[in-house]
Amino acid sequence: MDLSVSMAGVKFSNPVITASGTSGYGYEFDNYFDINQLGGVTLKGLTLEKRPGNTPPRICETACGLLNSIGLANEGYEFFIGNIYPRLEKYTTNFIANISGSTVDDYVLLTEKLSELPKIKIIEINASCPNVKEGGMAFGSDIKILTGLVKACSGKKQKPLFVKLSPNTGVITDFARACEQNGADGLTLVNTLLGMKINIETGRPALGNIMGGYSGAAVMPVALRMVWQTAQVVKIPIIGSGGILSGSDALEFIMAGAACVAVGTASLYDPMAAIKILDGIRHFCCEKNRDISSIKGCAL
Ligand SMILES: Cc1cc2nc3c(=O)[nH]c(=O)nc-3n(C[C@H](O)[C@H](O)[C@H](O)COP(=O)(O)O)c2cc1C
Repeated sequence: MDLSVSMAGVKFSNPVITASGTSGYGYEFDNYFDINQLGGVTLKGLTLEKRPGNTPPRICETACGLLNSIGLANEGYEFFIGNIYPRLEKYTTNFIANISGSTVDDYVLLTEKLSELPKIKIIEINASCPNVKEGGMAFGSDIKILTGLVKACSGKKQKPLFVKLSPNTGVITDFARACEQNGADGLTLVNTLLGMKINIETGRPALGNIMGGYSGAAVMPVALRMVWQTAQVVKIPIIGSGGILSGSDALEFIMAGAACVAVGTASLYDPMAAIKILDGIRHFCCEKNRDISSIKGCAL
């Protein structure tokens, strides 16, 4: 069956992509599987300058998911271009860069720089990180600020520009429409939900940053609902993200209107998760004798 998908003019061999921040730069999977089997790999969040990230502890498990407050720790653009990008050259999968900044200018500059890199097929603006004080969610939770950010970046882009939206906002469809109207070529829905946990032995918040982003199985119904609502009001493609653990979870997102799905927390539990999810989709399509395109949006 044909599992191929086209998003903003970029051809994906199948709809399974890794979610940013949960799969490094893709090559970390080399000992497990060939990442070229995936439709795409979203790279770990990148900022212009190096960021040390938030105070540890930065990760804690909950009954049905994970809380993280990584705080976009990364080595910055210069390190990326010198040490990481060259390692991506040998792969054929689609790489999606995920960018964050403290100012609109940071995002614009990164958009310009990444536009020049042939291996980067899509630039994903992270306007939704719930655990950094400046940047991140501040850009994604105010519609006027988000509009300005998307407009500024889309004026400089030479690659398709996706915007990753936060679930920690008002009406998701208003934010989605604002992105589409201001030059976004696609959307990723959704980033993590803002949450917290308390360590009852210390009587203190479990995360050094107090609050963090909640991901994993528990968030899926919320993310799915937002994809379904958004798919009714925009024409640009959507990458569905949030709690996808299995092929059937992924199919729900595709039936809700997502063109592709991003696998995040599941890969932290099982490095083979994305491949197993792809196998599940393939098995379903073969069994039902359906191409992926005939399933997309059937629940709308
Ligand atoms: C440890 C961790 C780090 C993350 N880092 C980023 C990031 O750098 N940029 C980003 O846009 N999203 C980041 N996310 C959010 C994921 O990409 C994904 O959208 C979210 O976790 C929901 O999907 P999931 O439930 O499958 O994990 C991160 C999530 C986790 C768990």
